[in-house]
Amino acid sequence: VAFASFCTFVLIDSSNILDANKAFVSLSLFNILRIPLALLPMVVSYGANFIISIKRINKYLQGDEIDPETIQHEPNPHTPVVLRNGTFSWSKDDSSVLNGITLDIKDKSLVAIVGQVGSGKSSLLSALLGDLYKTEGYVNVYGKIAYVPQSAWIQNATVRQNITFSQPYIEEKYNKVLEACALTQDLKILTGGDLTEIGEKGINLSGGQKQRVSLARAVYANSDIYFLDDPLSAVDAHVSRHLFDKVIGPTGMLKKKTRILVTHRVTFLPQVDEIIVLKDGQITEQGTYHELLAKNGEFAQFLLQFVSEQHEELAEEDKEIIEQLKEKMGPEFEKRGSIVRSETLSNSSDGIRRRTMSNASRPSTKKGNTSRSMSQLREEPESTKGNGEKFKLVETEVAQTGKVKWGVYWEFFKACGLVSCLLVILAFCLSSTFNLLSSLWLTEWSNDSLNPAAANDTTLRNIRLGVYFGLGLSETTFTLTNSIILNFAILKGARLIHEKMLHRMIRAPMSFYDTTPLGRILNRFTKDIDVADVTLTFNIRLLISQSFRAIVAIIAI
Ligand SMILES: Nc1ncnc2c1ncn2[C@@H]1O[C@H](COP(=O)(O)OP(=O)(O)O)[C@@H](O)[C@H]1O
Ligand SMILES: [Mg+2]
Repeated sequence: VAFASFCTFVLIDSSNILDANKAFVSLSLFNILRIPLALLPMVVSYGANFIISIKRINKYLQGDEIDPETIQHEPNPHTPVVLRNGTFSWSKDDSSVLNGITLDIKDKSLVAIVGQVGSGKSSLLSALLGDLYKTEGYVNVYGKIAYVPQSAWIQNATVRQNITFSQPYIEEKYNKVLEACALTQDLKILTGGDLTEIGEKGINLSGGQKQRVSLARAVYANSDIYFLDDPLSAVDAHVSRHLFDKVIGPTGMLKKKTRILVTHRVTFLPQVDEIIVLKDGQITEQGTYHELLAKNGEFAQFLLQFVSEQHEELAEEDKEIIEQLKEKMGPEFEKRGSIVRSETLSNSSDGIRRRTMSNASRPSTKKGNTSRSMSQLREEPESTKGNGEKFKLVETEVAQTGKVKWGVYWEFFKACGLVSCLLVILAFCLSSTFNLLSSLWLTEWSNDSLNPAAANDTTLRNIRLGVYFGLGLSETTFTLTNSIILNFAILKGARLIHEKMLHRMIRAPMSFYDTTPLGRILNRFTKDIDVADVTLTFNIRLLISQSFRAIVAIIAI
């Protein structure tokens, strides 16, 4: 730019003479222009980023919200849960999962919901929570709700924090809840007791323990209405008996509460107040255990299916159910029982699907299953002991602060390649030298104006112009070269670091993933790599170029 301007200036008219005044004032003006021009491309890209981010945030903020009108909360002390002709779907465009559900749940009653997998049991609870999209009907829920989801929701905190869940810790109540939820024994095994930290998504607890912690949280919350989505699915038969007797059932801690229990355990059905049978999103039957059994309809079918699927492994108490069933269905029992059995055998793929979908509910469906979950419970002590040694699972992240060690720089430069680093420095040296020379040359040139003979000498002027051009060109070339080498070197360094990191990650033991929050790993790979890629390049370039410029300026002055 400087060359072009000076060139135009001297060539346009022979009376134009480049003197010190003109030359250096224009040079400093060009320098002022330099930074804004260099930043201009960045402004464009940041502008684009800005627009995209705004769009994303907008989309996020304008996403669908739960419609507060879905569920009414009118006082209704005798029937806290009322559903009239409710039809629900998972989203506006989906077809409905629940059709024409009408339901009254009396205060302090225990209602069981049974049905095949995918019949809409969990959906019904979600609907009562207001998570589903209501197409028609009326829902009224009165009272504080506690919800135990089908797959336990565990926070990355201590067991105690997970159970008290922001409520004040009252030791007596807490211990009672632990005892009722059969957690006392499990907590003794953990080295940190109830202060053991549970990893992200509860990785150091077994499925059954998670479910019980989740249940304990609900019990501790002391709500009015309990929605329990298959809380007995991942625990052993004797533990589920304990949970039912001490927590859920008519003798349990929750006996004064309204409870809706989704379950696959037929064992407990005789003890509930009412049973609702769901099939394909509709209520097919409703009544007490004996009423439904007498009807010999859908519910009897369900029992029969359950019984025939696990004939050999039935617990002692289930035998009673079979007897009753036999009595009610008479000769049909044997016939249909065998039909169902052969059906389940031929539909074994369907059976597998059903089991996986139900999140390994019904642990006693198959013998292998039972023994596995039991051995899981037994093995748990060892595995958690090893883990529990640490007591605190997720270590807090410590960022290094203060001075960066020289070793880190050394590592980084090694990663970038020492040869390229030297080349960069050399190129910077050369470009600065030429920059210095062209300044000196300009000084010489402007001194010419003091000498009238030299001022009017066109040959001299052309030489001055030519050399100035040559110097400028060399400077530009070397600046370009060093930029290119620098970028490649840092790119190489960053890639090497990334590859090393990826390599380590892939080879890391599973326990690393268990104890390191995913977010932290993501951060390493996104934010920190970004720093190595972009910020470092920018800063190194700035550092080198500015220090050379400072040297040049000092020499020139
Ligand atoms: N979060 C969800 N989003 C969309 N569809 C779902 C969701 N959860 C369940 N469904 C659908 O709702 C139907 C009923 O499922 P669900 O209520 O989970 O059955 P159940 O609890 O009786 O096994 C299934 O067809 C299932 O695909
Ligand atoms: Mg379910």
